[in-house]
Amino acid sequence: MARIIDGKQLSAQVLKQVAADVEALKAELGTTPGLAVVLVGEDPASHVYVRNKVRQAGEAGIRSIEHRLSADISQTTLNELVESLNNDPDVHGILVQLPLPDHLDEAEIISAIDPAKDVDGFHPLNVGALAAAQPGLIPCTPLGCMIMLQQVHEDLSGKNAVVIGRSNIVGKPMAALLLQASCTVTIAHSRTKDIEAVCREADILVAAVGRPEMVKADWVKPGATVIDVGINAIERDGKRKLVGDVDFADVEPVAGAITPVPGGVGPMTIACLMKNTVTAARAQLSETHPAAAVGQS
Ligand code: GUN
Repeated sequence: MARIIDGKQLSAQVLKQVAADVEALKAELGTTPGLAVVLVGEDPASHVYVRNKVRQAGEAGIRSIEHRLSADISQTTLNELVESLNNDPDVHGILVQLPLPDHLDEAEIISAIDPAKDVDGFHPLNVGALAAAQPGLIPCTPLGCMIMLQQVHEDLSGKNAVVIGRSNIVGKPMAALLLQASCTVTIAHSRTKDIEAVCREADILVAAVGRPEMVKADWVKPGATVIDVGINAIERDGKRKLVGDVDFADVEPVAGAITPVPGGVGPMTIACLMKNTVTAARAQLSETHPAAAVGQS
């Protein structure tokens, strides 16, 4: 039976540390980290994610500022909002929930965010910093996956890692982090030939494709660590259910360790958003208060 990597428990540990860091910032500098969350339109999943992010921010002692905008907002108005958040000294982190409605240019909005406040780590400057192993803000889901992997593996060096999915949000930054940890990294995707055989080579298998229960037992090397990033709503036996990209019941007996859905990567993503917000706040404050840099982790 595989070891279950409990994202709920681990995220609670991360959030406890974040709350302590927030308290330290308040005590040292009298500043409460602020996170601005921008939600455009009525996408139901995005509303759930944003609600959870705002709730967790409150629990960690972070001040969150919500901006809910109608689906027909113009690019100019959204750009202006981002610009005003960039210039607001009480805002240390800016998150624009994706996806945006089709008429809005996501790349343009992401590039408009001040890279120092880009707690999603999606700005091209942060993307480049990660690729070049320079300091920067790291996307929350891959960061959470790395913390989960560290629970199982003291050293990832030399392991075969396969990431299924090549998105900017998860697949590509995940591969960069695994490479930084000295794994031999393969990115598999919809055009990969004999994807099952590629995945069977993996000591570390990360599934981030958004295809319900795609990864089956015969895709997994016995004893491998399986990280399931997928959160897919399906109907089974007339009931709505959340499942991952991994067929958990099928794979769990083969894997050495596995993350569940729900209760795996999801809570870690939100905890890492709070971690990034405190990191961003401390970095910004250290520019005007050099002593703030001392507590930087
Ligand atoms: N949509 C799905 N995942 C994410 C994320 O990590 N950040 C943002 N901003 N939008 C998302």
